[in-house]
Amino acid sequence: MCTLLVTGGAGFIGSNFVHFVVANTDYDVVVLDKLTYAGHRESLAGLPEERVRLVEGDIADATLVDALVQDVDAVVHYAAESHNDNSLNDPSPFVQTNIIGTFVLLEAVRKYGTRFHHISTDEVYGDLELDDPAKFTPETPYNPSSPYSSTKAGSDHLVRAWVRSFGVNATLSNCSNNYGPRQHVEKFIPRQITNVIDGVRPRLYGKGENVRDWIHADDHSSAVLAILERGQAGQTYLIGADGEKNNLQVVRAILTQMGQDSDAFDHVKDRPGHDMRYAIDATRLREELGWEPKYTDFEAGLSATITWYRENESWWRAQKAAAEAKYAKTGH
Ligand code: NAD
Ligand code: DAU
Repeated sequence: MCTLLVTGGAGFIGSNFVHFVVANTDYDVVVLDKLTYAGHRESLAGLPEERVRLVEGDIADATLVDALVQDVDAVVHYAAESHNDNSLNDPSPFVQTNIIGTFVLLEAVRKYGTRFHHISTDEVYGDLELDDPAKFTPETPYNPSSPYSSTKAGSDHLVRAWVRSFGVNATLSNCSNNYGPRQHVEKFIPRQITNVIDGVRPRLYGKGENVRDWIHADDHSSAVLAILERGQAGQTYLIGADGEKNNLQVVRAILTQMGQDSDAFDHVKDRPGHDMRYAIDATRLREELGWEPKYTDFEAGLSATITWYRENESWWRAQKAAAEAKYAKTGH
């Protein structure tokens, strides 16, 4: 491999992957990104122009996708509408990008015989009870709850069908909740960090008992690179770093690290259909590909993330008012 097409590479996890690839491989990267409200040119700032090229465009644009795919060695597909709360307000772009967009990419890689890696989420499996010792495995039945997760589940099924019916050389990965630099301020951790910076109390949905399995975006990137280079065609890999925490624990950790009283947050109304718990069993990834996470200390990773938001206000400031205006409409 020498050139990767990374869709959604100007978003949170995609941009972290592009930075990771530039730092750790000699691959060149073409980023295809629509630059929606969630995509930022600045997220690729500082990368060498001779190795990284940004093409502004839509993954559902079949002519553009065809032209780009024929010139690359592999496609790593991150582009998506990614936020559950937005999908509850307007599911339409989720169906268009997550399902139709993935279909357009699959048709192009089928035509050119191009290696394809599909990025997905643990949310396709639905949720687990708090007292259930089980974790998600690749055999867990699909049971998505929200418009977002159902469209991601639909895209996973398309990829699997294109592998089986057309022999497309694809792998899939389903990862748990990421945190780290360049995450949009609509998401839980950056929303609360930037609220505290602005002197606003963090907002916790419902009782705050919901559990997420946190992984640093760099660990997600190292896992995706391992799967891309050494994964078995047609296989699904679950990515997680044993980082289960409930939302109350996370908000208290943010407040404490930022020098506030750990009770200085407000409970707001719950998210409709709110998944209770996600947890990943990453045995296949660890045993088959020898992958290990580097960020095993959540408090340390969170501290670095808080520092990033403190030092990069110019990156997030323009997003903040619009994100909070959306939340104000739903009482969140
Ligand atoms: P994000 O919202 O930060 O970024 C998405 C990017 O996709 C943006 O740059 C946006 O401009 C681009 N995009 C959206 N629609 C597009 C289109 N039609 N054509 C081209 N580009 C388009 O999302 P993220 O949190 O970085 O998530 C990236 C991927 O990882 C998604 O597929 C998501 O389902 C998956 N994922 C996310 C998490 C998480 O914790 N955030 C966990 C597991 C999996
Ligand atoms: O599990 C992987 C998924 O993680 C990804 O597929 C999604 O793209 C990503 O957005 C994320 O989904 P969540 O819905 O879990 O993430 P979010 O950051 O929106 O919320 C995390 C938890 O925090 C969730 O239980 C809802 C809660 N929450 C969220 C916000 C924005 C709050 O309590 N208060 C808030 O203000």
